[in-house]
Amino acid sequence: EKGGYAHFTLKEIYEQPKALRDTMTSRIVPGQPIKLDDIHITREMLLHYSRIYIVACGTAYNAGLIGKVAMENLSRIPVEVDVASEFRYRNPLIDNRTLVITISQSGETADTLAVLRDAQTKGARVIAITNVVGSSISREADDVFYTWAGPEIGVASTKAYLTMLVALYAIGIHFAELLDTKTAEELDAIKKELLTLPEKVAEILAHVEKVKDFAQRIHGEKDVFFLGRGLDYQIAVEASLKLKELSYIHSEAYAGGELKHGSIALIEDGISVIAPITQRDLTEKMQSNIKEVVSRGAKVMAVTYAENEDVAKYADEVIYIPSTLDLIAPILAVVPLQLLAYYVALYKGLDVDKPRNLAKSVTVE
Ligand code: F6R
Repeated sequence: EKGGYAHFTLKEIYEQPKALRDTMTSRIVPGQPIKLDDIHITREMLLHYSRIYIVACGTAYNAGLIGKVAMENLSRIPVEVDVASEFRYRNPLIDNRTLVITISQSGETADTLAVLRDAQTKGARVIAITNVVGSSISREADDVFYTWAGPEIGVASTKAYLTMLVALYAIGIHFAELLDTKTAEELDAIKKELLTLPEKVAEILAHVEKVKDFAQRIHGEKDVFFLGRGLDYQIAVEASLKLKELSYIHSEAYAGGELKHGSIALIEDGISVIAPITQRDLTEKMQSNIKEVVSRGAKVMAVTYAENEDVAKYADEVIYIPSTLDLIAPILAVVPLQLLAYYVALYKGLDVDKPRNLAKSVTVE
């Protein structure tokens, strides 16, 4: 049932083009408004909301980090993101002018479900983004966006994460259409680019030699750092989680601009730094961050867009991804980093599909 792949995790990484296509089909069509059958939010309702909270756990929370940036950008509604187990206990400001978006692959995560119930009790409306039809979260939410990633068996979330991102962009575009915060041309350009993602992800998946080489180089290490700015920081956070849970290598993600404020103290000779660089307006700033760590002896692997030739002058290893809009480029940048985590775990001989101490669905609080 692994379809010829060594692990479910690898199979699921390779299923991402299909998962993306299935999630977008019939919902995202250039020249037409976004079509979300199970979301019943009107322009009047949106005008009434003072803020959106995105609440989730783990990788679903990491998807929410990107969702915040995308959604604020598209709809201009303020969005906050929080971890469900923190949000619950901090007496959040929820009332009937709050829209809550919960994200959960399984639809059964206890803390996320508790947030949904609390929010509804306080009068908020809840949209659920989930991958499991009939799950508790899908049944109790007011509105649902089903990601069509198909069953995810590997404990580390990969294809579900990518489809969560697409779901958040689709909802963001939908809100932008309701609120007229972007022109039809602007939104059409984004829709068209989203629809090219399946083939671009497939292209990335067809060229994995460099990722494997880098995995081979770092598989014996104790600490790895991820560095990113803007949306690349949120991608760095997810890439770091993936590496940690699959390979048991300690890793941390830092915002490039925060380097000087403390973490640069940890950069020493021979340490590996992994840097997604997809945001064109932040590329120069990231390159100076890279120079800073390289001058302290770091080995750098950059993941960047095809036209960014300069980066090869500073980084030891560069993985190029197909070009797209900056807003959606992170969806591509994470793919080689998922593969990196997979191959590091493989070279270490670990149980990739079932990392130690982890469960696929966390139904305890
Ligand atoms: C990480 C991972 C976990 C889950 C988290 C939430 O790869 O899989 O961090 O993302 O337990 O699970 P769901 O999305 O089912 O609520």
